[in-house]
Amino acid sequence: MKQRLLFVGPPGAGKGTQAARLCEKHGLRHLSTGDLLRAEVAAGSELGKEAEAVMNRGELVTDSLVLAIVKAQLSALNGQGWLMDGFPRNVAQAEALAPLLQELDQAIESVVLLELDDAVLIERLLGRGRADDNEEVIRNRLEVYKQQTAPLIDHYSSQNLLARVQANGSVDAIAERIESIVA
Ligand code: AP5
Repeated sequence: MKQRLLFVGPPGAGKGTQAARLCEKHGLRHLSTGDLLRAEVAAGSELGKEAEAVMNRGELVTDSLVLAIVKAQLSALNGQGWLMDGFPRNVAQAEALAPLLQELDQAIESVVLLELDDAVLIERLLGRGRADDNEEVIRNRLEVYKQQTAPLIDHYSSQNLLARVQANGSVDAIAERIESIVA
């Protein structure tokens, strides 16, 4: 079983759902920058106050802020395997992550891309109702994904790390597809 994974995909593709399940099953640490940022917002920290309005518009929080969170998480891992969900979110974050991982001697083993049509993504997110799940913000999140995050597909393909997974169907069926990649 691979121990160091990234999940990439548009909002609503099921990254969080599948990551939580895979991490529970295989004892990996689930590092979701979205969850970590929402925890800061809920705690009312300075960092959370800075992030909240940006998140509610569906835009990306600054790279330096997110990198600081990820660095702190990685340095507390003590050799445990990990799955990063929602990070990196653009090529600059990926380029900042690479030397950090090199320093820790922890190379990424696989990047799993969850792919799904926009119409299904929007339907799923409207059904959930998080603070950033209204139609206008969802459309902005999708646009931000296409402009800023989708370039990671070529970035990691060129390193022979990318595996594509169709993210339609039941949670169980998608989990099986992912298992066959990370086994
Ligand atoms: P983040 O929390 O990462 O949100 P996201 O990428 O928009 O993704 P979602 O959590 O909406 O979707 P998901 O793919 O995880 O799907 P999920 O499993 O939840 O980021 C939020 C914000 O934080 C960003 O907009 C940005 O502001 C900031 N941020 C985070 N990381 C950042 C970074 N690195 N840099 C800068 N800013 C950052 O599923 C969605 C719904 O579908 C759920 O209701 C679920 O139950 C349902 N579902 C899942 N699977 C299925 C299925 N197979 N069938 C039916 N329903 C399903």
